[in-house]
Amino acid sequence: MNPEQKEKYLKRYAELKKKGKAFYPYSIFKDVAASALVLLILLLFIVAFGVPLEAKADPTNTTFVPRPEWYFMFLFEALKYFPGELEWVGVVVVPSITLLALFFFPFLDRHPFRHPSRRPISIVLASLVVLFTVFLTYIAFEGTPAATAEKLSPVEESGRRLYQAQNCAVCHSIKGTGGKTGPDLAGAGDRMNSANIHQYIENPKAVNPNATMPAFLPPLAHEEVEQITRYLLTLK
Ligand code: HEC
Repeated sequence: MNPEQKEKYLKRYAELKKKGKAFYPYSIFKDVAASALVLLILLLFIVAFGVPLEAKADPTNTTFVPRPEWYFMFLFEALKYFPGELEWVGVVVVPSITLLALFFFPFLDRHPFRHPSRRPISIVLASLVVLFTVFLTYIAFEGTPAATAEKLSPVEESGRRLYQAQNCAVCHSIKGTGGKTGPDLAGAGDRMNSANIHQYIENPKAVNPNATMPAFLPPLAHEEVEQITRYLLTLK
């Protein structure tokens, strides 16, 4: 600013300041009122529509693709570029620096003009941050695999529930998740036909005299064993 501009600016500033109201309490009060209103609307939405939760975590569900909410996808994507032991840099250091920079921005940028066209550096920097965030969000969604396996039929789904209820996972894993006493059941359908699997669950000793797995008929009924069998056949 040249001296003439500066004088004009200071004059206008003094005039406006005389006309205006103090930040405390007037602006603070407006902020509080507006925030309270937004909060109230949110609460009304919660009461009226509820807050849906995702299904309970289920270690036997191999189709689940774990991803954060959309507004954290950029961070999720960004973390992929930090190797394991440096994750804290991405999770703590970078966001803290960004927030601190935002906090100190009014002190760092003492530029007298407010119009965007007169603040190219700030505008370019802010736009880059926004663009980069949008870009990271975009590639995070691009890189999200569709839920892998097809949905289970009702019979297969009942089988999956019985598998959980009977704690088969205490001894068996599915694709590596679960107990190690018995074999991984992911490829059971390739090793045995459905009749054999069914028979094995009902009475292991009938298939394999040395079997150590307990028989499940009872507690399970014949149809229930069949449902589990159908479920196991979906695991490839
Ligand atoms: C106490 C541990 C234990 C439990 C509980 C258990 N199993 Fe097993 N299962 C085994 C073991 C060990 C084997 C390996 C052969 C043997 O010793 O019987 C096996 C074998 C099998 C096999 C044959 C797989 C193959 O590839 O040879 C199937 C199918 C099977 N189990 C299904 C089930 C189902 C379904 C349940 C739940 C209803 C279940 N098991 C519960 C221990 C268990």
